[in-house]
Amino acid sequence: PKDVGILAMDMYFPKRCISEEDLEVFDGVPKGKYTIGLGQSYMAFADDREDINSIALTVVSSLLKRYNIDPKSIGRLEVGTETIIDKSKSVKTVLMDLFESSGNHDIEGLDSKNACYGSTAALFNAVNWIESRSWDGRNAIVFSGDIAVYAEARPARRRRRCLRAPHRSRRAHPIHGTYMANVYDFYKPKLASEYPVVDGPLSISTYITAIDGAYSAYRAKIAAASKALSKGANGDAKGKTSDPKAVFSLDDVDYPVYHSPYGKQVQKGHARMLFNDYLSAPHKPEFASVPAEFLDLPYAATLSDKAVEKTFMGITKADYAKRVGPSMRCAARCGNMYTASLYGGLTSVVSVVEPKELLGKRISMYAYGSGCASSFFTLRVKGDTSAIREKMDLLSRLEAVKVVPCEEFVAGLKLREENHNAAPYTPVGSVENVWPGAYYLESIDSMNRRKYAIA
Ligand code: ACO
Repeated sequence: PKDVGILAMDMYFPKRCISEEDLEVFDGVPKGKYTIGLGQSYMAFADDREDINSIALTVVSSLLKRYNIDPKSIGRLEVGTETIIDKSKSVKTVLMDLFESSGNHDIEGLDSKNACYGSTAALFNAVNWIESRSWDGRNAIVFSGDIAVYAEARPARRRRRCLRAPHRSRRAHPIHGTYMANVYDFYKPKLASEYPVVDGPLSISTYITAIDGAYSAYRAKIAAASKALSKGANGDAKGKTSDPKAVFSLDDVDYPVYHSPYGKQVQKGHARMLFNDYLSAPHKPEFASVPAEFLDLPYAATLSDKAVEKTFMGITKADYAKRVGPSMRCAARCGNMYTASLYGGLTSVVSVVEPKELLGKRISMYAYGSGCASSFFTLRVKGDTSAIREKMDLLSRLEAVKVVPCEEFVAGLKLREENHNAAPYTPVGSVENVWPGAYYLESIDSMNRRKYAIA
């Protein structure tokens, strides 16, 4: 097939959230630390009634229902998650319950794991399958989701939590720029705990290093492809610089979407993209105010140079609000979503931007997973997004998430922490706190088999 892309999307998040402003008071940290310093507004959370399987069951069944999808029309189901409740049995196998009554057991795909990147690995798997000789003509579903929690003792905020965004394929651009390396910035070596081990400053510099690497790789490939197309003509199609990578810049993107651990990191990421554009074409008028000495800084210094960061955050401030702002709606209400974060950004763009305005536009995607794995790629909107927007009903559902006191958040996470992987176990969290129609964990038996019910 020529155009492989996304036909449908859905999004699920917990029913309760806390306000980061309240959390600043509750945690006794200086005002503005979470809201301004990290750029966070709200954070959704789940207690012991929801786990990665229940979330996956909820949103994949909702996707099938909302779009009236015949379960037999699915030939691949991929999962991206870093929420591990079983070292062998995949979340994908649990999702096969949703296909049981249709008799469709011929569904390829399993779980992909690497911090927040699993969703993108899963998406690439689905797209590659459709483009391959193994494709049997059916559609693929990609589910990505997580329970994102941090231990209470972390210096920044406490814990953030969960969700996911699944979708099927159509319309991805085949060129990806990828950057992967062996880094201990955020990892989960404690198998008995849900919490990560985090080197905060390293995770921030790695996110930025990976943007540079993935974006450069993407631009170099685009330049090579356009050079090949123009049969060896000068790759600098815009005639702005001698750097062949300048053939592609942020100007070519209408809506950039970034993996969002928290809002401020996305602002910094967007600014860093522009810094990359500046290095390839420093004489563009928009860079007139940039101190010329930035060009002489050694690469490693630019990663931590506050002047570089502040200058480009200043230049991109209005642009960020206009082009990146639409992608931040889910993150603003739900906080960090790990693997679902980037795709929560995509569902936000589709929900915020009018379908007529979005038609024909290019969306860029920056996927980052600590450890580290990252990719930059783009999507072109080729169809009317009205149906996806209406069926998802995302903005009003986000509005409906109930803001509760921080004590409820702490109690919910305490339940998770104390009973993580307990068996036999019957969750004690109230089913009232699960959206009607969503799956929840009913019980775990003495052989660790999990049973789910619908609220
Ligand atoms: N009012 C306004 N701003 C404030 C306030 C305040 N009261 N207090 C601090 N700030 C600002 C700081 O000036 C700083 O601004 P800057 O980013 O422009 O320099 C910012 O808030 C962060 O302040 P820090 O003191 O560095 O914050 P902290 O010690 O909480 O650490 C960190 C931040 C490292 C991101 C921490 O939250 C963390 O470890 N998070 C988990 C890892 C993570 O999310 N990494 C990101 C990429 S990796 C991934 O996706 C998992």
